[in-house]
Amino acid sequence: MQTRVLTGITTTGTPHLGNYVGAIRPAIEASRDPTVDAFYFMADYHALIKSDDPARIEASRLQIAATWLAGGLDPNHATFYRQSDILEVPELMWLLTCVSSKGMLNRAHAYKAAVDKNTEAGEDADAGVTAGLYMYPVLMAADILAFNANKVPVGRDQIQHIEMARDIAQRFNHIYGREFFVLPEAHIEEQVATLPGLDGRKMSKSYDNTVPLFEGGARRLRETIMRIVTDSRLPGEPKDTDDSALFTIFKAFATPAESAAFAEALKGGLGWGEAKQVLFERVEADVAPMRERYDALMARPDDIEDILLAGAVKARAIAAPLVSTLRDAVGLRSAKHRPVVQAQPRVAATAASKARSPRFASFREVDGSFRFRLFAVDGEELLLSANFADPKAAGAVRQRLGSMGGAAAVVESQGDHLALLLDGQVVATSPAHPDEVLRAAAVVRLREALDALAAAE
Ligand code: TRP
Repeated sequence: MQTRVLTGITTTGTPHLGNYVGAIRPAIEASRDPTVDAFYFMADYHALIKSDDPARIEASRLQIAATWLAGGLDPNHATFYRQSDILEVPELMWLLTCVSSKGMLNRAHAYKAAVDKNTEAGEDADAGVTAGLYMYPVLMAADILAFNANKVPVGRDQIQHIEMARDIAQRFNHIYGREFFVLPEAHIEEQVATLPGLDGRKMSKSYDNTVPLFEGGARRLRETIMRIVTDSRLPGEPKDTDDSALFTIFKAFATPAESAAFAEALKGGLGWGEAKQVLFERVEADVAPMRERYDALMARPDDIEDILLAGAVKARAIAAPLVSTLRDAVGLRSAKHRPVVQAQPRVAATAASKARSPRFASFREVDGSFRFRLFAVDGEELLLSANFADPKAAGAVRQRLGSMGGAAAVVESQGDHLALLLDGQVVATSPAHPDEVLRAAAVVRLREALDALAAAE
């Protein structure tokens, strides 16, 4: 059983060493664990809450995508995408908004901080606060719940958001009476160091104390490292490594043996200037090959776009059926393809979904014709057959569908629907899937169901 691990990266700034050590590197490592099903995405809708500068939004999401790929994330293994390519996310956000308590959102740290600041300044409590900032936690809940993620690696400042996502998921499950959502858990990496910045405080854009990861190349990396604040001990004097930002950054890149040797040299009186050169060389040894890949990727934005769109297709294949189940659950149903059975939850299996095989349900129309539907294991309606005058003809088609297997199925798009053909005749159609990606995902599910039926024969 794989654990679905999901995290988002807000695309406002340019990645720095602290982002790399604290988030990117551990996430890429985790994605290589075969028990992990990693979903990593650019939270570019969230970025709009923080920035209304289109050029900056555009540049940042490209840079961040290139950074993760250059850092070694394998997009064929992890699901790597942009939030704004997943149309189901804003749709789910609305469904969640309608069960979220406003009082809960009033208590969100980021919103409260804005209100407190206004109050202190004697301004109106909500001065300058957008509804986007206010709704931030619901959008984040949609990011997580659209994929039923189990674990969400985040910084401490985000724990409250995960708790809200759990709260919202619970409310939705409760109101609509089924376990649609698994409850996500925040995952805080305890061993991962928060990197100090140039001034010794946590490396952060807001303190303006960052060391850029790739921007400006080796030269800029070296120049910035040379600006790290140290104490005033002279060369020859023993240096204290305990609260040295320089040494802490070194440790984040070096092996324990390398760190021990460096600590030894500092105690032995190595000058800070030379120490900075040693640090630069150690960081550069790791960063240089990644920077080369980064520059190559940034020179080919079309390739990055293709990778991200492929990631979006993979992601939507999961989010789309869930959101369609949810639409149905809240009553946003097609008047045509009305489900005959209640859709079963996708996640938590109930006794009723014990039959682990797709199934047919035959029925007679008022006009006397014979038809059937095909349902997936989770209750999703996959196909509705054409009308047959004679029950034997319907039975024969049903039998052929049951034994053909997914690969043999001839499926084509007809408007919003998929049509399944036998001997050049449309024998069944799917419910409407309003765009191409959704139809592609539905074809995959249909073929899977046909495979499962053939296997069960
Ligand atoms: N709010 C997160 C941050 O600033 C980014 C984010 C957006 C996120 N959506 C998410 C993180 C979903 C985890 C899961 O760090």
